[in-house]
Amino acid sequence: MPTAPAWDPVVRLTHWGIALAVVLNGFVVEDESLIHIWVGYAAISFLVLRLIWGLIGTEDARFTSFPPSLAAAKAHLSDLLAGRHRTYRSHNPLGALMVYALWGTLIVVVATGVVMASDPFPSSYGMSGDSFTALFREYEGHRGGSELIEDIHELAANTLLFLAVVHVGGVLLESRLSGVNLIRAMVKGGKDRQAGE
Ligand code: HEM
Ligand code: HEM
Repeated sequence: MPTAPAWDPVVRLTHWGIALAVVLNGFVVEDESLIHIWVGYAAISFLVLRLIWGLIGTEDARFTSFPPSLAAAKAHLSDLLAGRHRTYRSHNPLGALMVYALWGTLIVVVATGVVMASDPFPSSYGMSGDSFTALFREYEGHRGGSELIEDIHELAANTLLFLAVVHVGGVLLESRLSGVNLIRAMVKGGKDRQAGE
């Protein structure tokens, strides 16, 4: 019987945390709201935790267990299409490419988001007029960064949401073709794995 990856609790927690935050910020909460920024910081926390875990975590969670390789991804695809199934302890080579693409895009999204959300020198603290009262004026939510940063944030966010849809499609297809329930493994931690595997 084919076996599923046995994801540890950190992988599962950070996966569903990131997925929830991305869906909330992409589709549910107002872009201009404070909650968007808080949800964004939650995404950053999960991402940082997962990336550290990729260096020091359990064996299957480490980057070294799923190195990016175009050749391996192609071989895996032709295996799948030919009905051959290989068991992978960690991400399969095709999934690995998608995982790095998702993380890379998310890094662009959150980095540009942080630049927009923080402005060390808000113009509302400018020296024009009465500079003393200007210092005590209410912070009016002036945003840092330029239009370009905002455009990059938007483009990367849309790319991320597109990749996430392809990702879920890939997970469903791989599960169907290989007979391994990958979603259950990401929820429950790999009950399919046989003893001693
Ligand atoms: C978690 C993934 C995220 C997604 C999917 C996301 C998505 C988006 C989208 C679609 C917009 C609208 C862009 C536009 O129409 O111009 C936006 C705007 C914005 N986002 Fe994010 N974002 C994310 C994370 C973050 C983070 C981490 C921060 C900051 C800590 C942030 C701060 C902002 C700000 C300040 C705006 C501009 C709002 C405005 O126009 O006033 N975002 N985001
Ligand atoms: C915006 C939404 C999502 C994002 C950004 C996302 C991102 C990711 C990332 C980065 C990984 C690698 C996990 C790791 O090694 O820590 C992953 C794996 C995985 N994701 Fe998602 N995900 C999303 C939604 C979903 C949904 C809705 C499902 C289920 C229907 C799902 C199922 C899985 C599964 C099963 C894996 C493991 C695949 C394997 O065995 O190689 N994801 N996802």
